[in-house]
Amino acid sequence: MPSRPSTPVSPKQITILGAGAIGQLIFHQLAEANQQTASRLNFISKETDSAVTPLKFTTLDGQQITRHAKFVGLKDYAHELANTELLLVCVKAYQVKAALNSVLPYLSADAHILLLHNGMGPHLEVQPDLDSRSLSLGTTSQGAFRIDRYHVKQTGAGLTQLGAFIGAELSEELKTLLLSNIDRSTWHSDILPLLWQKLAINVAINPLTAIHDCPNGELAKIEYRDTIHKAVKELVEVAAADGLKLELALLIERVYQVIELTAQNFSSMHQDVYHQRQTEIDAINGFVLKRAQTHQISAPFNLRLVEQIKQLEAKYSY
Ligand code: PAF
Repeated sequence: MPSRPSTPVSPKQITILGAGAIGQLIFHQLAEANQQTASRLNFISKETDSAVTPLKFTTLDGQQITRHAKFVGLKDYAHELANTELLLVCVKAYQVKAALNSVLPYLSADAHILLLHNGMGPHLEVQPDLDSRSLSLGTTSQGAFRIDRYHVKQTGAGLTQLGAFIGAELSEELKTLLLSNIDRSTWHSDILPLLWQKLAINVAINPLTAIHDCPNGELAKIEYRDTIHKAVKELVEVAAADGLKLELALLIERVYQVIELTAQNFSSMHQDVYHQRQTEIDAINGFVLKRAQTHQISAPFNLRLVEQIKQLEAKYSY
């Protein structure tokens, strides 16, 4: 008897949640690998119907490239997410929990989730909702901004550090795919210390540049030295209470390196305040504060910075 032709199995998808600057940047970097990888990528978007959308990308050396991306609308979530092997969550820290909860009911039970955002906190908030799914975390200092909704410009090369947090390790195939295509990316067996180190940079630079309406380079001035030192010192104390030993002097040195390397840039929080958008303060200095409260440690410098940013947000004219 002739055998029935087998139904083609569609390759497992890599789904990106969040088509902001970082989501689109990662899409372009992965899509560059080869056609087969590009065809596995899609964006989940509750704002649009399913469609193939041209995405423009301006590279660091000024080349402009257009790639076509599949955007999956709400009606088609179930099918795409059931076939998703890796979910890359690239939304702002304060959006992670709600965004993830909106897709979890449809997401394959063995999907791997990777959170990539500024700040810390969502990794603790989402843990109870994951069921059997594994979670990795990452941080990137690649610079990118959206020229318009579907056009991203890369503005700075930077490190991307990724690593496992809960559950099974990411498969070797997916790990290789990420590491060989995301510029200067590395995998770490213990990602938390690196997230705290990046947090120290954001704790020092982000609120001060927003409050004083200045580019990162201004913070090299002596008048900011004390606040930077005290805010990072509080972070070191809180991390120690959380069981992680960090070197204050090394962190301060790193903060000043980043100030110098990104001297002309406006930090993401400066841009958020400038455009009257919600900032990530709760996941940056606010996270230090929350952990400090848990351990009954006082963190007055971080508290002051949080209050100042909240005051700026309260003045938005909408
Ligand atoms: O959030 C940012 O803007 C960036 O993480 C950094 C490193 C502070 C540079 O501006």
